[in-house]
Amino acid sequence: MENLKSDFLRFLGQTNPFPVALNIDRAEGVFIYTSEGKRYFDLISGFSVSNTGHGNPKVKEAIKKQLDKYLHTMVYGEFVQAPQVEYAKLLCSVLPATLNQVFFVNSGTEAIEGALKLAKRQTGRSELISFHKAYHGSTHGALSMMGDEKFKTAYRPLLPDTRLINFNQFEDLDKISERTAAVLVEPIQAEAGIIEPENDFLKALRQKCSQTGSILIFDEVQTGFGRTGSLFAFEQFDIVPDILVLAKALGGGLPLGAFISDNEIMSKLSHNPVLGHITTFGGHPLSCAAGKAALEVIIDNKLANESGKMGQWILDNLNHPLILEKRGRGLFLGFKLPNADYVNKMFKSCMNLGLLFDFYLFNNDSFRIAPPLTVSQSELEEMLSLIIQSLNEIE
Ligand SMILES: Cc1ncc(COP(=O)(O)O)c(C=O)c1O
Repeated sequence: MENLKSDFLRFLGQTNPFPVALNIDRAEGVFIYTSEGKRYFDLISGFSVSNTGHGNPKVKEAIKKQLDKYLHTMVYGEFVQAPQVEYAKLLCSVLPATLNQVFFVNSGTEAIEGALKLAKRQTGRSELISFHKAYHGSTHGALSMMGDEKFKTAYRPLLPDTRLINFNQFEDLDKISERTAAVLVEPIQAEAGIIEPENDFLKALRQKCSQTGSILIFDEVQTGFGRTGSLFAFEQFDIVPDILVLAKALGGGLPLGAFISDNEIMSKLSHNPVLGHITTFGGHPLSCAAGKAALEVIIDNKLANESGKMGQWILDNLNHPLILEKRGRGLFLGFKLPNADYVNKMFKSCMNLGLLFDFYLFNNDSFRIAPPLTVSQSELEEMLSLIIQSLNEIE
């Protein structure tokens, strides 16, 4: 076992000096088990991926069925592959009429790249606006939109003509103009520590984009698929974006990303020039089969609604003197502690107690609760008592 860990550190490119390095054996429902036999309650869902629970039988069945038919046969966009077509059709059936064509890619960051390019093509403009403390991915375009200079400086020069504005600052919306190709926003900011939009902020943003002819792109990579109490978060704010970006839970546990728009807009990528955005593996048949099955599980079991109810139950019942603020909705929750030291201590304590814990990228005084949406009431109660135990330990 130790060999495996040292080989992990030796042979895999690392993302940080202190990886959690749990040695994973298997995962089921809301639990992840290590090779040492320890059980962890999953509070993270692989960052909003495992909405239908680990090893969901319907998702596994769909993967196995597709596995026996075919894997990769051709680059995206050339052959008629039933899993892609059927999944795109299902997605469009649960989206507003103007979100009616799906472009599949492999990941969230790629979907952001596609969406930004599409907005530039549609408007003939170049300025791209995003928000402070936003995370949209790690490739050059998405990184250019990241709302934190610390992560960007070492990689400059990035995309030109990008601009950051402040979430929930109505006066900043005046910076959106006839020069702006697109405004990219997470309807609820995730890595900022679960920051919700203030009353009508997103409506005002929608209005400004419509006035200036700028494309409004919603990044629902984390908030999608029932996570916040509705299938997609934008539904709760009574507006529709021009482009919707999805990934993470989109693939039901397999890699998949997508950007979705009206077909009139989307057509720009296939004309003048042709091949405006291409991908070898985008919309992989296994990923689409898994994603479609996962979405069906979410719809059939009303998991979005469940997520809303369970989130409210946690907000009502998770009380402790160390918790200074509760944020979020559905199973997309952030809790503020007095300072970062407490969060660091809580990390150690939770991991000891068998609660999988992780940090926000741009918020060091809060912890997250985002379990799979299939979590049961009794599991929620167990989770809550372990969290309280951890908070008592660090008090
Ligand atoms: C809101 C948001 N957008 C985009 C991305 C990028 O997705 P991916 O890691 O699949 O490239 C992430 C990843 O964490 C994200 O949280």
